[in-house]
Amino acid sequence: MKTQPVKGFSKLSKEAKIEWLIQNFTNQPEESMQMLSGYWHGQPEVQKLHDEFIENTISNFYMPFGVAPNFLINQKMYAIPMAIEESSVVAAASKSANFWLDRGGFKSEVIGMVKVGHVHFLWEGNEIDWMFDLFENNKNLFYEHTNDITKNMRIRGGGILDLNLVDKTEFEPGYFQIEVKFDTRDSMGANFINSCLEEIAKTWKNLVEGHKANTQPDLTIVMSILSNFTPECLVRAEVSCKIDEINEGSGIENLEFAEKFCRAIRIASIEPYRAVTHNKGIMNGVDAVIMATGNDFRATEACAHAYAAKNGRYTSLTHASIEGDTFKFWIEMPLSIGTVGGITSLHPMVKFAHELLGYPNASDLMEIVAVAGLAQNFSAVRSLITSGIQKGHMKMHLLNILNQLEATDAEKIEIVNYFKDKVVSFSSAVEVFCKIRGISVESLSKSK
Ligand code: MEV
Repeated sequence: MKTQPVKGFSKLSKEAKIEWLIQNFTNQPEESMQMLSGYWHGQPEVQKLHDEFIENTISNFYMPFGVAPNFLINQKMYAIPMAIEESSVVAAASKSANFWLDRGGFKSEVIGMVKVGHVHFLWEGNEIDWMFDLFENNKNLFYEHTNDITKNMRIRGGGILDLNLVDKTEFEPGYFQIEVKFDTRDSMGANFINSCLEEIAKTWKNLVEGHKANTQPDLTIVMSILSNFTPECLVRAEVSCKIDEINEGSGIENLEFAEKFCRAIRIASIEPYRAVTHNKGIMNGVDAVIMATGNDFRATEACAHAYAAKNGRYTSLTHASIEGDTFKFWIEMPLSIGTVGGITSLHPMVKFAHELLGYPNASDLMEIVAVAGLAQNFSAVRSLITSGIQKGHMKMHLLNILNQLEATDAEKIEIVNYFKDKVVSFSSAVEVFCKIRGISVESLSKSK
C-alpha cells in the first residue's frame, strides 16, 4: 500500500488537508490545488458558512441553478428554482408549465402532514397485556417528559400528535415499537422528532423498570429514530383539460394523444421496469426543487419509492384518466420537507430560492414540489409517445458534447445552428465539429 492512513485528518487546516490529498492521490498536485481553490467562494465569510455545513470541507461542489418560469399553481404564478446537473430537465419543466398555463394551470393540495418515528425495543416477557396497560395508563408521562423539547413546536401549533404501542413479535421475537406521530409545522423536523423519541425511550425504560416484578425480564431499547417513510405526509397535484384542448402540437389527434398518454401511464403502473424510469423522471423535477430549496433529497427519494411500492408492487406515482370529454393527469406522493431549519436560512442560494417562491410555508412548498414532479412527467411521457425522448434531450445535451470537444464559442453557434432542424447524436455532433475545424474524426479520436 503506497498511501499510509492519515491520523487526525479532521483537525488539519483546509490547506493541509488538500496538501495531503493531492500529494497522495493526484498526478498533478498544482493543477488540483488551483482547481479546488478556484471553487472557493470569493467572500471568506460565505466560504466559512459552506465549510461548516459538513466536515472535512476542502472546496465547493457547484451544481447549475436554473429556473422554470410560468408555473400557474392554485391560480398563483411561480418561477420554480431547480438545482440539477441533467440537461433538458429545466426545459421540460418550463415547456410543461407553458402548456398548462393556457389550460388553467396546476391544482395542488396537501392531504396530510403527519410525520412518524419509532422507539424500537425488545421485551421477552410473557405479560404482554400488562405492558400494554402500563403504556396506556401512563401516556401522559411521555408528553410531560418531552415538554421542554416540544415547547416551541407547540407554540407554533405542532408537537406530538399520538403515541401507540405496536406488537411486532410475529416478525421478530420480542420486538415491539412505540409509534409516535408528529406535526412539525414548517420544519422537516428530523432533529425534533429524534430528540422526542430518545426522551420517550428513556421514559419508557424507566417506567417498565420501575413497575416490573423481579421475575420479569429487562426491556431493551434497540433504537429511537424517525421514519423517512411518511405516507401520511401526502400531497396531490393535478392538471386537467377538455380533450379537444389538448392540441399538443405533434400532429396527433387530440383523443389519440390522450389515449396514448393514459396507456403509457397504465404501463408504468403495471410494469415495475417502466415504473422505475417513469418515477425517475418525476424525481428529476422533484429533486431539483428539493435541492434548490435546501431540503433532504435522500429522504424524499427513499420515501417516494417506498410509497410507490406500498401495495407490494412498485408502481407509478402519477395517474391519468379520460372521463367523458376531459383528460386528467395527477400525482399523489409523500413529501416530508421544510421551509425553516436546516440550511434554509443559511445557504445564500437556498435563501434566494425561498424568496423566489414567495417564502412558502411547508405545505405550499409540498404543493410546488409535487407540481414540478407532475410537470416533468407530463413532458417526458408526451415526448416518449410522440417524437421519442432523444430528439429534445440530445438537442439540450449538444452543448455538453461541444464542451467535451472543447469547441470555441463560434464553433458552438455554428453547430447549434446546424442541428436546429436535425436530430443530434454524439457521432453526428463529432462529425460536424471535425468538418468545421477541418480535421479528421480519426485524428480527433487519437488526440482525446
Ligand atoms: C430521464 O432523465 C428521464 C426519463 O427517462 C423519464 C421517463 O422515461 O419517463 C425521460
